[in-house]
This record gives sequence, C-alpha cells and structure tokens, in this order.
Amino acid sequence: MRTRVEPPSASRDLRSRARSPSAGTERAWRKLSREIRACRRCPLGSFRTHAVVYRGSLAPRIVFIGEAPGAEEDRRGIPFVGRSGERLNAAIRTLGLVADSFGVLNVLKCRPPGNRFDRSAARTCRPHLDRQLALLHPEVVVTLGAHALRSVDPTAPPVLMAAGKPRGPSAPSVFPLIHPAATFRSRQWSERWARDLAALGDWYRSRDLKTQGRSEAWP
Ligand code: URA
Repeated sequence: MRTRVEPPSASRDLRSRARSPSAGTERAWRKLSREIRACRRCPLGSFRTHAVVYRGSLAPRIVFIGEAPGAEEDRRGIPFVGRSGERLNAAIRTLGLVADSFGVLNVLKCRPPGNRFDRSAARTCRPHLDRQLALLHPEVVVTLGAHALRSVDPTAPPVLMAAGKPRGPSAPSVFPLIHPAATFRSRQWSERWARDLAALGDWYRSRDLKTQGRSEAWP
C-alpha cells in the first residue's frame, strides 16, 4: 500500500510537493531493476552494453516514456542522456518539474541495432514496462513518439493526431508528445514540440488545480 507524504506545511508551489515510495516499493523496485539488468529474453540482450532501466523519483507524479536507449544511453545505462535527453531535460525545466516529481524510462530497455525500434522485442519487454508502471504508479504518463504511444495505448490514433492532447479517462492519464529527436529535423517539428509542451503544461496545471481543489494559480 503506497503512502502519500505531504511536506509539513503544504507549499504553494505544487512543483515541490513530493511523494515518497514505501519500503516495499523500494525493495520491489530493486528486485525488478536487477531482473531487467540480467534479462536475456530477446536478442537485444546480447547486443547491449547496459540495460537501461530508469532515472528519477520512485514516487513520481509524471513518467516520461521514450522508445529505446540510444548509443549514449547504452554506454551509460541511463535513459535520455544524449542529445534527445538534453531536449527532454529542457522541456522538464519548462514544465517546472522538480527532481522528486518525475521519472524517465523507455519501452525497450536495451538498445536496438541501428536504433531501429524492434516491435517484437517490445512485446517481450512489455512485462518490464508494466511492472515498472505498477510500482511507480504515476498520475500522468507522457509518451514520447509513436512507438511509446502505441505501446501504452494501442488504440491511439497516429501520434501527429494524438500529440498535444490528453487521451481519454484512463488511469494513469496519458498525454502524448512527439519524440524530442524530431525537433532536430526541422523548425516545423520544433514548433510542434513547443506547442504541445505548452498544452501539456496548461493541462497539467488545470488538472492539478481540479484534483487538489486549489483555487490559486500555479506559479
Ligand atoms: N534516448 C532514450 O533513452 N530514449 C529515446 O527514445 C531516445 C533517446
């Protein structure tokens, strides 16, 4: 059973309101992380340098889900630490999220050769993702790119139609974005990324105000 820990005096700034994982969650997370690091259930396990499990809080309010580790992530064993990671980190700063309120992971835990998303490996890897989300229990899942969206919500329309709008009444709520790597391709994609990110910020704030019954604006 998860406990929600509020700071002694509730801050006016929702960004700093942390949750805490229970000891049981921490134990289960360590066990799951060991299993993922040792996993050889699909061929990608033989190509990797490191399985890439997660970075962030163990009691996040928002989890960002990418597609698969790239070269830098494979080298360091941490998700989104390359060029796309810089773009994602900038987005996280724009949203005003503090370190204890979010987490970052991928659908695939091992780098696919040529960075080509492997759907068959994603099916094999799926139980890892499901167990991660069950333990992290975020309020909101932000999918990054088409493969992440499809993995989380198989009935979603194509990512360009879905991005920038929350998906139906599911728990956790799903908010799709295009993949941050797309922003390196053209100004058009950068503008789309910025627009959808602003929509995510607006939606998240309004949702938070509703769920928390707050009347003041989020700074
Ligand atoms: N790095 C990741 O960890 N995931 C992606 O989807 C892209 C880059």
